[in-house]
Amino acid sequence: MKRVWLLAALLPACVILKFERLKNEPVDFVSDVKPILESRCLECHHSRYVFAGLNLETKKLAMKGGRSGPVIVAGAPQQSLLYKVLLLGHENPIAMPPTPEKLEREHEQIIHDWIQQGAEWPEGTRLVPPQDWNRNRS
Ligand code: HEC
Repeated sequence: MKRVWLLAALLPACVILKFERLKNEPVDFVSDVKPILESRCLECHHSRYVFAGLNLETKKLAMKGGRSGPVIVAGAPQQSLLYKVLLLGHENPIAMPPTPEKLEREHEQIIHDWIQQGAEWPEGTRLVPPQDWNRNRS
């Protein structure tokens, strides 16, 4: 009987541990960052719709940045426009994404930690905008 109680007590702890990302936990570009950028940013920042001159399809283009210059400063999220625009309030025209739904707090943290950890982007990894998901992945 005791064991049952112990299990009951541990279960919520496990659930919390699973869902709460630890701060600055190692980030993997392909499994953590790519899906966020593809689903929330690529529709407006890829070769057919390059808003503000910013194309996030390839590492080379993303690192080149937009009309304001580089938007990713590896190791320095606070100097990276790609991260800073996520924190802006909606009264600001450059708040990203410009839709009413901001990124989830956890996703902002992932972008932050990715840049902080050096903004790794494996060579050859290409991001795909949502409307091309089926075409390119089936
Ligand atoms: C619905 C279209 C749309 C989506 C989705 C979108 N953007 Fe933008 N983005 C824009 C437009 C339009 C601008 C120019 C805004 C302005 O200056 O008024 C812009 C500008 C930017 C800039 C400034 C570039 C520069 O050099 O000045 C950054 C950085 C940026 N977006 C990052 C992002 C990120 C990161 C996401 C996803 C979280 C995202 N955007 C999602 C349309 C979009």
